Amino acid sequence: MDEGSKREVYRNVRERLTALLDGEDDFVAAQATVASELHHSFDYFDWTGFYRTRGAELLVIGPYQGTHGCLRIPFSRGVCGAAARSKQTQRVPDVTLFEGHIACSGSTQSEIVVPLLGAGGAVLGVLDVDSNTPDAFSELDQAELEALCADLARRFPTG
Ligand code: SME
Repeated sequence: MDEGSKREVYRNVRERLTALLDGEDDFVAAQATVASELHHSFDYFDWTGFYRTRGAELLVIGPYQGTHGCLRIPFSRGVCGAAARSKQTQRVPDVTLFEGHIACSGSTQSEIVVPLLGAGGAVLGVLDVDSNTPDAFSELDQAELEALCADLARRFPTG
């Protein structure tokens, strides 16, 4: 998919989400809707979902689309853990080169994980998108997904 088409699809996703989430005050309902909209808008999104921070430095699976993922990921492990720990997006073009990558699905080739930062910079969780295509995520994906997560965290500053 070329970058111009991607930009257009992201704009449509944003518009639909603005309408769908209008007045919604339940975080899980919002996350489920975001995961569904994203997953079905891009054919290179093969696993799309959220992990929620639960307890001390632990991510527990939340709403997602795709085959089952790991249920729990400590902050110390995997790409998701690195995003939660560093509070920085992790864009990984080749998962085999990322030390500590958790291979929940053998078909994953690349991935992007964006932290959800709430009030006071608390890590509410992460958005994880995995692709069966190598180097699937561009700077545009990163910017769009970061904007989407920032918007979600503004709506739900405490999760
Ligand atoms: N790729 C992730 C885990 C993926 S899932 O279980 C869907 C990681 O290494 O953090």
